[in-house]
Amino acid sequence: SMPETGGFAIPANVFAETVTSVTHYTDRLFAFRMTRPQSFRFRSGEFVMIGLPNAEKPVYRAYSIASPSWDEELEFFSIKVPGGPLTEHLQKIKTGDTVLMRKKPTGTLVHDALIPGKRLFMFSTGTGIAPFASVLRDPETYEKFDQVILTQTCRETAELDYGRQLVDHMKTDEMMQEIVGGKDLFFHASATREGETRGERITTLIENGKLCSDLGIEPLNPETDRAMICGSMAMLKDTEKLLLARGFEEGANNAPGTFVVERAFVD
Ligand code: A2P
Repeated sequence: SMPETGGFAIPANVFAETVTSVTHYTDRLFAFRMTRPQSFRFRSGEFVMIGLPNAEKPVYRAYSIASPSWDEELEFFSIKVPGGPLTEHLQKIKTGDTVLMRKKPTGTLVHDALIPGKRLFMFSTGTGIAPFASVLRDPETYEKFDQVILTQTCRETAELDYGRQLVDHMKTDEMMQEIVGGKDLFFHASATREGETRGERITTLIENGKLCSDLGIEPLNPETDRAMICGSMAMLKDTEKLLLARGFEEGANNAPGTFVVERAFVD
């Protein structure tokens, strides 16, 4: 059936898709799923431009696709920015509503931008976990790596729920266990402003070695390890600095390396 666009004409480079579910995690975070166009292909970890058909000239923002490339629907994990030109409307969407998506996916948090290794680290803050929710569910991840380590730091504990539920699902769902295929999957979550992980930014955890000692795994090593980073501009800069100091080299789609950073979402 045709999506409801309230008379808005869909441009040729845009898909109009129907929301299938919405989940609110906190007053600042929510996730939604929507239909996936038959012709739409992407690599796990990529992002697209998302908008709403509620204005003559829709506002588009970069959103990582949080679902894996094999999923028949598309999932997104979003912040609610008070007064944000897109998210103030997007946070109110309901099942059956229409979301616009530009047709071309892109991004650097993809397997193609990393050279082969033994362990994959995915460092995120806040909604920066979204592309990793995609990579984490992709069979290629476990074909290429023996150990997969996802980290997320948020200000508050409740903000870690999306990631916790995802990792629980990976560990309990039969189909997901088949995807993981007996490889080691670790999740390190910390709330920096409450509870016993207070003050534990990812940068602190890398610097003092607590990340790997908490998980009972070998320290970071550019010979065996590959990394992906997604978070705020400050977090990207600081985490990147720590990896460079440890001998990691930044990769890109046309020149794979030992770590990659997504800069599409910052400011
Ligand atoms: P903190 O609570 O110590 O500021 P934000 O919502 O500001 O983007 O923060 C999300 C998470 O990222 C918080 O846990 C925050 O820690 C952390 N964070 C903020 N800046 C940095 C940084 N430069 N390096 C690492 N982590 C950071």
